[in-house]
Order: sequence, then C-alpha cells, then structure tokens
Amino acid sequence: MAPLTAEIGETQLDVIVADITTLDVDAIVNAANTSLLGGGGVDGAIHRAAGPELLAECETLGGCPTGAAKITRGYRLKARHVIHAVGPVWHGGGSNKETLLAGCYRTALDLAAAQRLTSIAFPAISTGVYRFPADLAARIAVGTVTAEVAAHPRGMKRVIFCCFSEASAEHHKAAFGDLGLV
Ligand code: APR
Repeated sequence: MAPLTAEIGETQLDVIVADITTLDVDAIVNAANTSLLGGGGVDGAIHRAAGPELLAECETLGGCPTGAAKITRGYRLKARHVIHAVGPVWHGGGSNKETLLAGCYRTALDLAAAQRLTSIAFPAISTGVYRFPADLAARIAVGTVTAEVAAHPRGMKRVIFCCFSEASAEHHKAAFGDLGLV
C-alpha cells in the first residue's frame, strides 16, 4: 500500500502499515486495558518488546479509566515513551463509545505535549479485541487528531497512524480523504 502523508501546519501526518514496536518515535501509543497490566494484541507486543521494566512501571500507576491514558518510559523499545490509552469495548453502538475513543487520542496528544514530545504513533485503538468497527474507529481517530492538531499544534512535528493491516490503513486513508486533507 502506498503510505499516505498529509500536512497540517507544521505537523506531518502519516498512515503506514507496520509493527508499532519497531518505530523510532518519541512515543508509541498502546491499546491497553483499565488495569494497565498487559494483555494480548498490541498491548502484548509492546510489553514483550519493552521488557519487564515496563510492567514494573505500569504496576505503580494504579490503572487507567476508559477514554483516558497514562505515560511511561519505553525501556527496550526504540520509542522513548509508551502512552497507554484505554479504548472502549464495542457493544453495538452508543455515542459515548465514540466520545471515549476520541478521548484516548486527545489525551495521548496532551500527555505528549506535556513532555514536549514531537513525534507520536497510534495503533488503531479498540479495533481488535474490543471489536470497535474499523471504519468508524478510523474516522474518529483521524477526525480527532486532525482537529486537535489544527487547533492546538502542541509543537507536534509527526503523527503516525500505524496500522497493522492494509484494510485498517485503507480506512484511515479514506478518513483523510473524507476530510479533504488529501
Ligand atoms: N503494531 C501495530 N498494531 C497492532 C500490533 C502491532 N504490533 N498488534 C496488533 N495491532 C493492531 C490490531 O490489529 C488492531 O487493529 O492494534 C489494533 C488494536 O487491537 P488490540 O491490540 O486487540 O487492542 P484493542 O482492540 O484496543 O483491545 C484492547 O486487548 O490486548 C488486550 O490488554 C488489551 O484488554 C486490552 C484489549
């Protein structure tokens, strides 16, 4: 798939297909659960790649509510930090689920800005085990991040939507197209 690149002000936004644990960015975002104590999917991959010190730090955080996020160091990852976001579980709809998912992206950007980070990579939060429809989730992800970056650039230079399949990437690219950004 041809990666997609868009610019909003000083911020470059990319849609790629890759393993997020391989990315050399200031922060990668984890699709975690409220315990923050690891799991499967991208959560499992990030903990495996970061090593046991990541879990040890997570154990000090006291969990995290759905729709929010907490930041740790990245340890053995190339990424300097991991932002653990807790997405909503899809039970068939409900606007609060969309609000909670948007909150994951917004909070992650706020946490990155607070640490003056300038590059961040997101997985497609909630679209695996949490069964959020991939097309709707991509629209929420791209819509939230582009609106936030346009309104408050936060000094962010690079935002990567790190998809794990071509289909997921196509949903994100379509969302950019729907917003007239490409
Ligand atoms: N790099 C990038 N994306 C990945 C990777 C990876 N290495 N591994 C999986 N993904 C993608 C999945 O394909 C999916 O599109 O991340 C997206 C999110 O899927 P999940 O990891 O299943 O996360 P989520 O749906 O948010 O469910 C969270 O699953 O692993 C548990 O502890 C986690 O309880 C939490 C729940």
